[in-house]
Amino acid sequence: MKTVRFGIIGCGLMGREFASAAARWCHLLEMDVRPEVVAVCGRTTNPFAWYRDNFPSIKQFTVDYKTLLANPEVEAVYVALPHHLHREVYCAVIEAGKHLLGEKPFGIDQRACDDIVACARRRPKVFVRCSSQSPFFPAMQRVGGMIERKAFGQVIELNTGFLHSSDLDPNKPINWKRTTECNGEYGVMGDLGLHACHLAFRAGWVPRNVRAILSHIIKERPDGKGNLVPSQTWDNATLLCEAADPDHDALFPWTLRTHRIAPGQKNNWYAEICGTKASARWTSVKADILEVMDYNGGEQIWGEIQTGHETAFKSITGGIFQFGFSDAILQMWAAFLYELAHGAPLKKFAGCATPGEVVLSHHLFTAALESQRSRSVVSL
Ligand SMILES: NC(=O)c1ccc[n+]([C@@H]2O[C@H](COP(=O)([O-])OP(=O)(O)OC[C@H]3O[C@@H](n4cnc5c(N)ncnc54)[C@H](O)[C@@H]3O)[C@@H](O)[C@H]2O)c1
Repeated sequence: MKTVRFGIIGCGLMGREFASAAARWCHLLEMDVRPEVVAVCGRTTNPFAWYRDNFPSIKQFTVDYKTLLANPEVEAVYVALPHHLHREVYCAVIEAGKHLLGEKPFGIDQRACDDIVACARRRPKVFVRCSSQSPFFPAMQRVGGMIERKAFGQVIELNTGFLHSSDLDPNKPINWKRTTECNGEYGVMGDLGLHACHLAFRAGWVPRNVRAILSHIIKERPDGKGNLVPSQTWDNATLLCEAADPDHDALFPWTLRTHRIAPGQKNNWYAEICGTKASARWTSVKADILEVMDYNGGEQIWGEIQTGHETAFKSITGGIFQFGFSDAILQMWAAFLYELAHGAPLKKFAGCATPGEVVLSHHLFTAALESQRSRSVVSL
């Protein structure tokens, strides 16, 4: 078993998710590569206690990411930082010759993303990917298989999205995701957008143009110190694109919704693909159920498949058992390490987002901002 020694920069929500996935690597079967977390970097020392208590492998704790990058033990780095820090830190990781799994949106804006990707091009031996775990849900794996088999026929319509509801509460305190300084102009698209694009981009379905309606619904939030402060970023983004189906030389409508104020939707990833030969729909609210309709000229009947634990990377969990968020994170990490070790993903829909895919997402979000400004359709 090959070991890849990791550093983590950013010890918040996602830093802990990755560390926890690394700690339960024994959950996976047939992997010939595993991560070992050897170093962590946070802005303060507060989060270190959890890492220290749970990871005897971690020998370096630092508040300076450059110190972590100077550590020759560290071969690869997972970075989970606010978006305004992506360009500086991702470029530094790549330039230090360490493999990088960065978080989305991979740069606060198009320019930052282009700079990161240019850095990666200058260092072709460094493996660079962006985190995106939704394709690893078993139902999405099945949809990926259907796309590979060209089971949908000509795509008629695509609807994808990622919906959250907690910002409906006007008393929810502000955090960095609601400031343009840290989350940029994209707002909710930077936060949630890649999750709603990755499957389509991997399928080769590329938006040609977009009309976006962006909503700024709650304009002030408590700062936790008794004041109301501006909540600056877009809460909801509704995009209507014309996308190309390369197999049929045809265009189809793609609606893409990323909402932080979607009443009642705690954490809903969804995808619906309507095709001339088959259609499929899935929502993470009922993660175990994939609805499919095959059409061969007879009755049009939607069926329901309970997908259980059918994962891209085999695990010890019995095939009948349900799959959840942390399982998707573990699968995504398996995909990163598998592709790093083998030079290619296990299969087409079992890979993290590539630099090309994140660039495409930035083109889309940048065009969406322009569409909102001009109240018009913007070509990509
Ligand atoms: N893949 C997913 O499902 C998912 C979910 C949530 C967030 N994210 C992404 O993960 C990234 C981080 O988000 P989060 O929710 O973990 O945020 P978070 O606020 O929970 O954690 C960010 C951490 O970065 C630390 N930090 C800030 N500046 C630093 C510096 N200079 N050096 C070291 N540490 C520093 C903060 O102290 C904090 O602990 C973002 O890019 C976000 O979009 C991805």
